[in-house]
Amino acid sequence: MKRTERPPLSASAYADQSYYIQIQRNLNAQFEIDHDRKRRFMIMTYGCQMNEHDSEKLTGMLGEMGYVEALKKEDADLIIFNTCCVRENAELRVYGNLGALKPLKKKNPDLRIVVCGCMMQQPHVVEEIKAKYAHVSLVFGTHNLHQFPHLLSQTYTSSHLLVDVWDSEGEVIEGLPVTRKVGIKAYVNIMYGCNNFCTYCIVPYTRGRERSRTPESIVREIEGLVRDGAKEVTLLGQNVNSYGRGLEPSADSTGEGFEAVKDFPSLLERVSQIEGLKRIRFMTSHPKDISDELIEVMARCENICEYLHLPVQSGSDKVLKAMNRHYTKGQYLDILERARRRIPGLAVTTDIIVGFPGETEADHEETMSLIEEARYDSAFTFMYSIRTGTPAAEREDQVPEDVKHARFDRMLKRMNDIVIEKNKVHVGETYEVLVEQQGKDGEGTLIGRTRHNHLVAFEGPLDLVGAFAMVKITKSKNFSLVGDIVEVLA
Ligand code: 5AD
Ligand code: SF4
Repeated sequence: MKRTERPPLSASAYADQSYYIQIQRNLNAQFEIDHDRKRRFMIMTYGCQMNEHDSEKLTGMLGEMGYVEALKKEDADLIIFNTCCVRENAELRVYGNLGALKPLKKKNPDLRIVVCGCMMQQPHVVEEIKAKYAHVSLVFGTHNLHQFPHLLSQTYTSSHLLVDVWDSEGEVIEGLPVTRKVGIKAYVNIMYGCNNFCTYCIVPYTRGRERSRTPESIVREIEGLVRDGAKEVTLLGQNVNSYGRGLEPSADSTGEGFEAVKDFPSLLERVSQIEGLKRIRFMTSHPKDISDELIEVMARCENICEYLHLPVQSGSDKVLKAMNRHYTKGQYLDILERARRRIPGLAVTTDIIVGFPGETEADHEETMSLIEEARYDSAFTFMYSIRTGTPAAEREDQVPEDVKHARFDRMLKRMNDIVIEKNKVHVGETYEVLVEQQGKDGEGTLIGRTRHNHLVAFEGPLDLVGAFAMVKITKSKNFSLVGDIVEVLA
């Protein structure tokens, strides 16, 4: 496999790609003349918001190259799989969907199939693709996304599988064009990578060490988004609370409050001062790094939503230690209590893993009792999935699959009951909702989210999309709310 050493990057690394963008634009213009239509692409995204956002960047680059989005696979000239390797399930789906494209490629040999993202950072995955998926044209990883125009160009001049995966991260690349999914809501990376090495997790190996973007570039990006109509941003990082570690003050960091930005709370406060930005969310927070200052900033700044995603992973101190999480159940619950006391109505969501190696019935009980105390507004529950290369994968005391399944079902059932019970208390209340899009019942129906991130369905005209409205909740469904508009806000 061609596993390229990390080449030196210049600050203009993306600008260097403009040559290949131009080449593709010319080729695509010729294609349009020949075929009476533009070249079409489709991106299948797996996994977390980081991947969603990387796909937005790919979409932005493809737009610059003259591609348009295809509505279905059969119409596409280029199909991209942006993969996730956090759990085995997501990996198996990629292999299944890749395999299913073989007949399409046979029918249309010009079809380009590209696979990128976290899975590709694992050498055994690339080997598997080389061995079994000869219809793939290009494989690249998470560290050279910005090189996509160059890599894609090469697929048009060679019929061989091109593999370009970098072992390590480069510097942070600024200036990638991004095409956002919903104009009124946007994701913004504030940092990349993770240094935590939770023993079950593959991310530090696939996304590399922590690198923070400068406050200037983050604030400039958000100001641009707001100018383009964004009302809400979600600041993204694997562990946003360690933002700023190792970040040198840059030459232009004087004035405009940038010199005061040293860590995540100060970044959040600076972002909250951006004029016209109505809502700010952030994810993911690691409990070990949540500071009182962060809670204070959340309480103080009006446009920071009362919403916190705080993955707990387990309620057993023994398992938490084995996971390398650096907090106990007691410390976690203490953070929740402090945050809820200071931020009335705070909504809290979490991630939980059941069946980590060595987890006993008693450990599982500890997690069950934690969810009773924490009373989450919603949660993602995962069955532990062995990830080759991580310390937990080496353990001999893996929990049998049937035990994992039984614990997962029990956890999910109780968690759902709590979420449904909690949802009921909103009936009769009136909340500010950002109207996001048409509802699934078509014309005249809308959906939006409260500051607490609850999904609300209500009636109203489509031209309210992007507006704020006060909505009175009339009914709670299992995982969403139904309401009536009482007032449209300016
Ligand atoms: N098995 C199961 N769940 C995992 N997660 C991360 N790695 C694994 C794994 N090996 C879950 C964690 C994390 C979320 C994004 O995915 O709960 O918070
Ligand atoms: Fe994985 Fe832990 Fe880093 Fe989250 S904090 S990305 S779970 S290693």
